[in-house]
Amino acid sequence: MNLNSVLITGTTSGLGRALLRHYARGPTKVVSVNRRRVGALEAEHPSVRFECVDVRSAEGVQRLLDELAASGQLPDVFILNAGINRLDNGDSFDLPAYREVMETNLFGVLNFVAPLSALPPGGVERHVVAVGSMVKYAGNPHGLGYAASKLALSASFDAWARMYAGTGLVFKQVILGPVDTGIHTMPERFPAWMNRVKSLAAASVEDAAAAIARFASTRKRTLLYPARALPLFGAMWMAQRLAPRFLAGRKSSSDGSRTAGARTADRAGRR
Ligand SMILES: NC(=O)c1ccc[n+]([C@@H]2O[C@H](COP(=O)([O-])OP(=O)(O)OC[C@H]3O[C@@H](n4cnc5c(N)ncnc54)[C@H](OP(=O)(O)O)[C@@H]3O)[C@@H](O)[C@H]2O)c1
Repeated sequence: MNLNSVLITGTTSGLGRALLRHYARGPTKVVSVNRRRVGALEAEHPSVRFECVDVRSAEGVQRLLDELAASGQLPDVFILNAGINRLDNGDSFDLPAYREVMETNLFGVLNFVAPLSALPPGGVERHVVAVGSMVKYAGNPHGLGYAASKLALSASFDAWARMYAGTGLVFKQVILGPVDTGIHTMPERFPAWMNRVKSLAAASVEDAAAAIARFASTRKRTLLYPARALPLFGAMWMAQRLAPRFLAGRKSSSDGSRTAGARTADRAGRR
C-alpha cells in the first residue's frame, strides 16, 4: 500500500513508543494517541500529531476520528497497540481489575473499529491492526482478563478479516510473543524455568516495531512474532491439557486455599 499516515495508540512506552520512533524517522505522518501528555516525548517528535484520548472512551475515540475525517486526515494504517496486564485472578477474582483490562485491551480497540466500519467505502484502502498476544494459545490464569481480552480480540478480527475481504478495510492482527517491555511481567506467577525460556525467546522492542511496521502495510492478515516463541506457547498449551495442575491456579475444594500447582507457580516469589 502507499503509506502516507499512521495512527498508533499507547506510545508513551514499550512497543508503541518504538513504533512511534520507527515511523517518525521516515516521511510517514504520525498521529499518536495517548491517555496522558508526555512533554518530553512531544518535544522529541515535533512533527508528530499528539492526541490525548483514553482508548476506553468510545465518545473520545469517535470525536477524534470525526475530526480527522472532516479534515481529510484519516490515517491509512491504525496500529491499535495500547494495552494493560493486571493480576486479576489470584487469591480471589478481582472483577474491577478484570473489567479494566477488558475495557482497555478489547473495547479500546473496538472503539476504533465501530466508527471505521461505518465510513463510506470511498475506494480508499485502510488497514486496522490489532496487537494481540500468544497468550491466546496458553494464557496465565492469574491474568485472566488479559488472556480473555486477547482471545476475544483475535476472534473478532478473524471474523472481520473474512467479512471485509475485498473491501478497502483490511483487518489484521499481530500475535506477539514476549517482547522486552514493561508489560512482559508477572514473573512470580510462572515457574522459574518458564521465565528463563521466556527471556530467551523475547524479542527486542526495536526489532518488534520494525517487523510490525513491515507487516502493517502488506495485505497479510496475521503476523506471529517472534516465531521462535511459538514452541514455548505450544508446550504450555500441551502441558495445560496433559497436566491439569500445570499453571491452573487450582483451589482446594475444602477451604479455598491454594493447591500444590498454584504454590509451584508462586514459589518463584510473590510481588
Ligand atoms: N511486551 C510483550 O511481551 C507483549 C506480548 C504480547 C502482547 N503485547 C501487547 O503489546 C501491546 C503493547 O505492550 P507493551 O509491552 O509495549 O506495554 P507497555 O510498555 O505497558 O505500553 C502500554 C501502552 O498502552 C498505553 N495505555 C494503557 N492504557 C491506555 C488507555 N486506556 N488509553 C490509552 N493508552 C493506554 C500506556 O500508556 P500509559 O503510559 O499512560 O500507561 C502505554 O503507552 C499491548 O497491547 C500488549 O498486550 C505485549
